[in-house]
Amino acid sequence: MNSKILEVKEQFLEELKSSENTQNLEVLRVKYLGKKGLVTELMKEMKDLSNEEKKSFGQEVNTLKGEVTDKITERTKELKELEIQKEIDSMPDFDISMPPAINEGSYHPVTLVQRQVENIFKSMGFAVEDYSEIVSDYECFEALNIPKHHPARDMQDTYYLDNGQLLKSHTSAAQNAIYKKYKDALINDGVPIKAIFPGRCFRNEATDACHENTFFQMEGVMVDKDISISNLIYFMKTMLSEVFKKDLKVRLRPGFFPFVEPGFELDISCLICGGEGCPSCKHSGWLELCPCGMIHPEVLKAGGIDPDEYTGFAFGLGLTRLVMMKYGIKDIRDLNSGSLKTLTQFIDE
Ligand code: PHE
Repeated sequence: MNSKILEVKEQFLEELKSSENTQNLEVLRVKYLGKKGLVTELMKEMKDLSNEEKKSFGQEVNTLKGEVTDKITERTKELKELEIQKEIDSMPDFDISMPPAINEGSYHPVTLVQRQVENIFKSMGFAVEDYSEIVSDYECFEALNIPKHHPARDMQDTYYLDNGQLLKSHTSAAQNAIYKKYKDALINDGVPIKAIFPGRCFRNEATDACHENTFFQMEGVMVDKDISISNLIYFMKTMLSEVFKKDLKVRLRPGFFPFVEPGFELDISCLICGGEGCPSCKHSGWLELCPCGMIHPEVLKAGGIDPDEYTGFAFGLGLTRLVMMKYGIKDIRDLNSGSLKTLTQFIDE
């Protein structure tokens, strides 16, 4: 090979090695193959050669030109791939091309209504209490004036643990503990007991559209001197009118619960027909919503409160039932279904 051509080739190979990015390669391409490039210049030298020499010189320069072109193309490809890989490596671990999360999650309708009712009662000076789901027989029945073998127990069959404890069949099971917690402030400082305690309840029952073995209630109690049925009606009416955003009518019917005397079933005027009568209210114009009553003297006594001095009311709002009425949910089982399609439709107000 002609020594000049060899020299250019070696110089090129040397410079190719030290080209570390695609820009360097472009410079290199212009330096060798451009109009005034080293390979192009070699061609120009042909005019001074003899015909014989011209042929082999020309061939060698052409071969070199081909080699330089191929090498630059090859190396450019290699470097481009490296550059892409480097960019990929520097990207965050998550997929930035994913669409943003559409489902941000939502609260269960029972939670929504529970919080709303809690806020209403809080604004009226009630404390919100949490209570265990596993309770003793004493808390769930005995302290509520339901001794062993009392027929009222039949209506509240629940799930029993081996240690004699049980899953609470109603939130009333927390009443005794609440009275004991607040009685000193009541007796010594004259602070009325005003508390609500929402909770999950369990009953050993066959399920259908209106019955579930797991449901929520919201219990409320108020104890002070001279508490009467009109206080009970006032608080219930205020709370329900707030929840339904309507001025509702309420009525009391007699109802039997061993822990209240007198005991009532509280009805509200039908939300669908406004009280005129429709299939939803079985044409009565009323919907049954909340059992309640004046706390039985024995129950106050069990809580360490003297029934001759203090009186109070208690109510056991069916929270699950309230949710069904508020949102028009026809089957109670939907609420425990875990179906996101059903449960994510409700919004906070
Ligand atoms: N605990 C009763 C039930 O679940 C309801 C109730 C509570 C009734 C408070 C009166 C007073 O059936």
